[in-house]
Amino acid sequence: MNQLEVLRESLGQCDEIILDALLMRNRIVEDIMVYKEANNVPILQPEQEAKQKEWLERRMQEKRHKNEVADVFESITRNSKKIQARKLFNYNIVLIGFMGAGKSTISDYLKTVFAMDIIEMDQIIAERAGMSISDIFETYGEQYFRDCETNLLIEMQSRTNVVISCGGGTPMRECNVVEMKKNGRVVLLTAKPETILDRVKDSHDRPLIENNKTVPFIADLMSKRREKYEAAADIIIETDGKSELEICEELIHSLRQMDAKAE
Ligand code: S3P
Repeated sequence: MNQLEVLRESLGQCDEIILDALLMRNRIVEDIMVYKEANNVPILQPEQEAKQKEWLERRMQEKRHKNEVADVFESITRNSKKIQARKLFNYNIVLIGFMGAGKSTISDYLKTVFAMDIIEMDQIIAERAGMSISDIFETYGEQYFRDCETNLLIEMQSRTNVVISCGGGTPMRECNVVEMKKNGRVVLLTAKPETILDRVKDSHDRPLIENNKTVPFIADLMSKRREKYEAAADIIIETDGKSELEICEELIHSLRQMDAKAE
């Protein structure tokens, strides 16, 4: 063997070690999830990720290839999150609820903790149309926007293990709810009209309330929609006064309970 062949053989041995370690690590990640569920320990423990980052930072101080190693560990962390998400849910999580109920905030949080892909319906529709939601309403009318929502939901049924953050009006059409349920569990987020007003008061891309940002108007539209929201929902989560972490923990717990009953 010449020196190059020797070096390549050593590299191959390193890869074997990395591979074995990764497979073992992935199994441990799944075992941790099983333990947490069996022992009623919170599933989400964001402080753990911070600890791992600190550990790596400490270990890599003054070392060469610090950034390259950090990049590999980032990828390991991201994939561990995906493994956890798939172990918990083998379906899509569809978030519905009134404007300002927290759909986008909670989908972002789920993306952070589980590295799940997010389908932000309003954003995709606006991007595809090349204009804001308000401009779509003004230029093509509400029906056109509603058809875009239905088509997008149908398109998204080919995806799994994603979070679909719907527009506030999406569950009003029965055919949309049928689509949501084909491949997903529907989570209704709720909040008091006062909370909603507080959350939407500074935004200007919600044509249905743009000139009516008041508690009575919001309460009225909400009560007109309540029945359809509740009929569509597999689980309901009140969001007033709760942190994102608390809401997500409740969401995971309720979905898992529902799954356990269905088994
Ligand atoms: C709407 C809610 C909006 C957006 C559009 C119509 C509705 O989405 O889809 O302005 O009918 O409630 P958000 O709930 O994300 O604000």
